[in-house]
This record gives sequence, structure tokens and C-alpha cells, in this order.
Amino acid sequence: MIVIIGGGICGLGIGWRLACAGCAVTIFERGAAGQAATWAAAGMLAPYAEVKPGEEQLSRLLIEGHRRWPDFVRDLEAAAGYSVDYRTEGALLVALDQDDAAQLKFKYDFQRSIGLELVWLSGYEARQREPHLARTVTAAVVSSHDHQVDNRKVAQALREAFCRAGGVLREHTDVQAILIEHECVCGVQLANETVAADAVVLAAGAWSRNILGLPSLLRPPVRPVKGQMLAVQMPPEAPLLNHVLLTPDAYLVPRTDGRLLIGATVEEMGFDTQLTAGGVFELLRGAWAALPGVYDLPIVEMWTGLRPGSRDGAPILGRTGVQGLIMATGHFRNGILLAPLTAQTISQLILTGTTDDIIAPFGLARFRDER
Ligand code: GLY
Repeated sequence: MIVIIGGGICGLGIGWRLACAGCAVTIFERGAAGQAATWAAAGMLAPYAEVKPGEEQLSRLLIEGHRRWPDFVRDLEAAAGYSVDYRTEGALLVALDQDDAAQLKFKYDFQRSIGLELVWLSGYEARQREPHLARTVTAAVVSSHDHQVDNRKVAQALREAFCRAGGVLREHTDVQAILIEHECVCGVQLANETVAADAVVLAAGAWSRNILGLPSLLRPPVRPVKGQMLAVQMPPEAPLLNHVLLTPDAYLVPRTDGRLLIGATVEEMGFDTQLTAGGVFELLRGAWAALPGVYDLPIVEMWTGLRPGSRDGAPILGRTGVQGLIMATGHFRNGILLAPLTAQTISQLILTGTTDDIIAPFGLARFRDER
């Protein structure tokens, strides 16, 4: 019996792969499955556009995560029977003044130096690709291998695929503690019930540190990082934007139904999830500066989410010092992008005992010497 704590995109993905392999799997989710950070995300799959100097190891993981998306979408759409809106128009990074352009050029030179196929555009060339961009867009970089997916549809599809494959989903059920005996995991404690398990996967996102029962060295250094977002409605037949757009102050993600997502703040506010006037104002200002037509569009939704940020911003994946206790948490800004890779490598670890080389540097042990 395998228990997964957390019914977000990673927990559901791991559970689905294990259930398909014939394992008995139960996912415990404190709220409704796929309704926390998974639901709040924008679904950008843009590791090439977001590569930064100093993050080469994480970038390798993100690019490998991106590579696994097409097969994951194929399998998931076949299992669920509907599209999850995987889109491949690419991403456009724009500069709005000379300082932005200098920064964009620095990043572009680095990205090219590590072999990424990005293309530098003048403002004029950028407007030929996206005619509604502001006249102040002075330069841009197009990253045609960056994609996007409707994360809410993915969560819904995974939920259905997991249950159809025989997995058990227990929503609105808090796991209070992980039970460990003689350095082996033996189950989880609920409010009024003890559940035995041979393996427990901790995939509880921003809540991963709050589960009791772990020795202090094994409590993952994960904290909530608040993000505010909103959506405006474009006419679906005449969208204002087709690419994912990364501006200096906001990112914009156009959905097939005409919704245009605008995100996101990055705030250290603990578990606070209030929308603020300042947060929404800054996002709208940032979006409007690059795409002025946003000004006239109706706002259809505003929301917040809590990213699971680890101490070094990279995910925590793999075995721990306790036999049978496995981590799949701390994905921070990359939970959607890394979900297929997390599902594949963590299910493989449980099924075969083998840690994939790609996740080996991302174990919990890397924090040991810091404590
Ligand atoms: N991945 C986008 C964000 O964290 O806002």
C-alpha cells in the first residue's frame, strides 16, 4: 500500500503512474484535489525563456521536465478522453526601455552561450508577430520551444485518470502525522484513523513542513510563497495575444477560451491569501505597459495561490534517511512544468528502487550541512 500526502498535480501524477502499474495507492488531500497551487498556476512551460546564469543545474532539470510534456499530454488525454489545451506558440520576452533591453541582451547572450535557440527581435519585428504590443516595446526575444498548458484541465484529467486506474482519492482529509518505526515508514495518522503503508510520498506543497512525525532533519525546508493573479477576457475569435508574454513586471498567458491570465506577485506572507489592491494594480500596470489593449478588457477572475518554495528554490525529490519515505515537494515556480518528470521519476523510484540521475542532485540530503 502506497500513501501520497497531497492531491496537487505532482501527487496526482505520481498516483496515476503507480495505479497504472497495478499498485494500491491512496492520496490524502487536505482540501479538494488540484485546487491549491495547481489551480492557481498559469501553466507556463517555459524553461528556455526563464534560464538564468547561476541556475544551470536547475535549468537542466527544467528542460528535461519540459521534454517529457508531449508524451504526458498524449497519455493523459487518452486516459481522460479530452484535451488539456497544450499550446506550442512559444514565448516572447519583451523590453520596454533601454535598461530592459540591456538586461534582456545580457540574458539572451547567456542563453545562446549554453546552446539555446532563441532569436533576438527588434520592436518592429516583435509587433509583426504580436500586433497589439505597445509602441514602447524596443526589443524582444522569441523562444519558440516554450509552451503552455491549461493547468486546471490537467488537474481535472489527472484526477479522473487516477480514479479510473483504481487509485483511491480521499479529499478533505488531513494527514496529521507520518508514522515511523525503527527508521522505516509504516503509515500515516489521520484525525480518527491510522492507515498502514509500505511507502509514503510527501507531496503536500506549501503544507509539507506542517505534517508531524518527522525528525527535525527530515522536515523539508519548504515555505509558502504567495502569488496574486487575475484573468481578463479577450474575444476568443480575435485574441489580443497568442504567445506567452514575459514583460519586466508581469507575464501574460492567453487561453484558448479567450481568458488572458496575468501574473504573478511573489510575496513572503506566510499562509496569507488575501488579494491586495497594490498587488493587482502592479500586475495590471505591468501588463498594460506591454499590451495596452488590456485596459478595455473585463476582469473575470482574481485569485491567489501559495507556491511551495524550498530554501534554494529547487524541488526536493527522492529518498530520505527513513526507509519508504519519499519527498516530492518544494517545486516553487515550477510545479506544473516538473509534474510529468516528478510523476515518472518518483513512481519509478517506488517501483524499482532506482533514483533517476536527473533527480539525484535534488534530494533532501543537500540541505543537511546547512542546518
Ligand atoms: N510559474 C509562475 C509563477 O510562479 O508565478
